[in-house]
Amino acid sequence: MLLAVRRRARRAVGTRSLNSRAVRLDPTTKPIEELDADVVAVGLAEGEELPAPLRDAPGAAGAKPTFKRIAVVHPERPARVVVVGLGKPGDVDHERLRVAAALAAKRAGSLDARTLAWSVPGAGDLDPAQAAAALVEGTVLAGYRFDRYRSSDPEDPPPSQIEALTLSSEAELGREAEAARIAAEAANRARELQDTPSNDLTPAVLAQRAEELAAGHDSLEIEVLGPEEIAERGMGGLVAVAAGTAEEPRLIVLRYAGGGDRGTVAFVGKAVTFDTGGISIKPAGSMHEMKMDMSGGAAVLEAMAAIAELGLAIDLVAVIPATENMPSGTATKPGDVITQLNGKTVEVNNTDAEGRLILADALTYAVRELGADRVVDLATLTGAVVVALGSTYAALISNDDGWAGDIGRAAEETGELAWRLPLHPEYKQLTKGTVADLTNSAAKRKAGTIYAASFLEEFVDDKPWAHLDIAGTAWDVGREYVGNGATGFGVRLLVRLARDLSA
Ligand code: BES
Ligand code: MN
Ligand code: ZN
Repeated sequence: MLLAVRRRARRAVGTRSLNSRAVRLDPTTKPIEELDADVVAVGLAEGEELPAPLRDAPGAAGAKPTFKRIAVVHPERPARVVVVGLGKPGDVDHERLRVAAALAAKRAGSLDARTLAWSVPGAGDLDPAQAAAALVEGTVLAGYRFDRYRSSDPEDPPPSQIEALTLSSEAELGREAEAARIAAEAANRARELQDTPSNDLTPAVLAQRAEELAAGHDSLEIEVLGPEEIAERGMGGLVAVAAGTAEEPRLIVLRYAGGGDRGTVAFVGKAVTFDTGGISIKPAGSMHEMKMDMSGGAAVLEAMAAIAELGLAIDLVAVIPATENMPSGTATKPGDVITQLNGKTVEVNNTDAEGRLILADALTYAVRELGADRVVDLATLTGAVVVALGSTYAALISNDDGWAGDIGRAAEETGELAWRLPLHPEYKQLTKGTVADLTNSAAKRKAGTIYAASFLEEFVDDKPWAHLDIAGTAWDVGREYVGNGATGFGVRLLVRLARDLSA
């Protein structure tokens, strides 16, 4: 059901021009010398020899097994081979293959290749289907580009992009590679949403994007609440954060009924399309990065689309509270008291701790209105997590060991790593308000990431819940396959989680 939403006419840009391109996959059992892609890639682990057709070819002497070392070899057939060092056989895992694939794809691009073929490594305990999936992820993610706002320069054209990826293996590769492609392309779409500046990606435009996705998948149902519905229902957190901005907030709800017997899982994603901090305004230095404060919401949205595309047997709901956080004459002020959807009152002592206020209502909505049995939320929630874990691990905080275990495994499998931090009644004590039930930030900045999670826990009615603080991993990670920009962190993790739960 689509509730009435008042829409203002907007600039045409929106997200209609999302321009991530699909890579075509082509599994084959052909041996290396019969591959006719523009560039062929092979991995080389320590103790391994180059495959026969390459051994005496020009350039072969430069091929080294050192991890990340690249050499270009020129046998007669195939034409050009990129050899990527993989290191010790025991160290060759899926993460290394993602990295190797990214390096090969970039080199192939600079060689003007449009088609690439990987000879899927079969060394050690690696399952060829999983190895192929990791290569697909690395290739697809490394191919992401955000140049929609750039004028084209005929003197300096961008490197060519891989359009087709052949996967050569004697083993049966099954559906893994295709599932990996779908998830990685969804991650790239999330990256485009992250990168799109806040003047073009407003809450209303994000909701339009959700509607586009729902229109493209019969199995996705959408409901979008506008400002009146949000206020009428009593979502005081979302109302308070949206109070200072001229942009209307949205609560975006998606439902996917794929069946299965694991109850309903809710994905909740923070979508602050720009976070100035509000009256508790942020310093100017890297404020522009706060256009990506909607990364959790983008990940949830595109993960839902990927799951629908995969047709997984699981029942899911997604809730994405979307707003800007701006200072103005109508903005919420430090010390203001608000009432959240579940009736708890909150002293807003810092308007820059806005994510927890909108997530609180979204969590309540998921468990009370949508009947979620389990919840996972993703949010660029605290600067403190960047201090604690950098860009290597997201923080995972949960009230349920089993659920945390499921999420930790999905994280491990995808390389979107998560490290568990504790909950404790003493942290909970910090969130108590002086004039209201809770306060959204304490004077002493103790355990900032756990504080935020402890606050959120007040809104899940004791349902199994896990929180992923992705402030450090949503961008600026620096791994070869995502570079220093937007990462789409969480899309592959959520898709993996849904696949594991539906298996
Ligand atoms: N969106 C920010 C958190 C953030 C910081 C994300 C850096 C990505 C990079 C969040 O809304 C915020 O401002 N949190 C405050 C909370 C504090 C006021 C209790 C923070 O972390 O400083
Ligand atoms: Mn903030
Ligand atoms: Zn924020």
